Amino acid sequence: MPTSAIILLQANNFKFIAQHKNNNTSEDLLLSMSESKTIWWDDGLWLVDQTRLPGELLPLRIKSVRQLIEAIKTLRVRGAPALGAAGGYGIALAASLSPAGNAAELMDELENAADMIKGSRPTAINLSWGVDRAMHAAALQETAEDIRIAALREAEEIAEEDIRINKLLGKNGARLLDDGDHVLTHCNAGRLACVGWGTALGVIRSAVAAGKHIHVYSCETRPLHQGSRLTCWEMNADKIPVTLICDNMSGSLMRKGKIDKVIVGADRITRDAVFNKIGTYSHAVLAKHHKIPFYVAAPLSTFDRLHEEKDIVVEERDGEEICCMAGVRLAPQGIEVYNPAFDATPLELVSGLITEKGVFRPPLMPPI
Ligand code: MRU
Repeated sequence: MPTSAIILLQANNFKFIAQHKNNNTSEDLLLSMSESKTIWWDDGLWLVDQTRLPGELLPLRIKSVRQLIEAIKTLRVRGAPALGAAGGYGIALAASLSPAGNAAELMDELENAADMIKGSRPTAINLSWGVDRAMHAAALQETAEDIRIAALREAEEIAEEDIRINKLLGKNGARLLDDGDHVLTHCNAGRLACVGWGTALGVIRSAVAAGKHIHVYSCETRPLHQGSRLTCWEMNADKIPVTLICDNMSGSLMRKGKIDKVIVGADRITRDAVFNKIGTYSHAVLAKHHKIPFYVAAPLSTFDRLHEEKDIVVEERDGEEICCMAGVRLAPQGIEVYNPAFDATPLELVSGLITEKGVFRPPLMPPI
């Protein structure tokens, strides 16, 4: 097949045409995205490899728990709700691959897999939530075969539920947006960060679906560029107008009156703070100063009512992510680097928590 040839791939309900490397652009990718999934089970575990975007939209078959952990650590699959589904599917995968012949032996193996998967990224609560849900369903069974069936059924339920919840949440949040709004977002809280639809971008999608004209300002999101690579790609694919900016431009845009609202997602919402991609806190402080509403969109599964900001481990990542970009060195070799993946925004800076149960203005929290 010539390198410019189009490969038609169809997996589960995820349909796309990807072009070969030397000739592809986002526009070349014909997508049937609105109902497509980021992670799914089709005779095994599949996910969209997000490290290849925006250049290539490629499905990746996950063949072992070790490979899933690598995919989570390197952000091939990322975003709190997608990690929740990855956690559930990870247990289903471990169960399906295990040769264990009895329930006790299989549960021992699953406990091991559960610890390893949960440890792969500590901050997004949905990862351990998804693992725990599948483990709980498995633990109720009496035979190894029933454990395998129950773990997969629970993982599929988490995935289906995610899309339903995001659409509800989107509808609730869409009421907060006015026709003509310019909305700033940070990182990617879209369908790629979920199984489908998205949280922060789901709100924007729902507003657009309701006939409102929304213009998105997407912060690039250093150091891994989830904003420029993923949010801009998603908005382009849906033909929602988007302008890419560097993270440090948001204050200046707010001062010029170019931002009406800010909406971000969350990796964990404790009793006192929202944990989200590093840089979120700065946008929240700037929004407060400029009297711009700052909203957080997240499903109830992202809420952690047992903990406060001080209890949470923030993932620190390899400094090379900051020092190198696309293989080019941007800082002197050996320089000291601090690279936290997330920051905490105190709830008093949040104008509303957009959930599937409605919008809650802190200190009000959604019911459990
Ligand atoms: O490091 P990432 O890309 O997994 O970080 C993701 C975020 O911070 C998202 O904003 C968050 O998970 C919400 S996704 C709906």
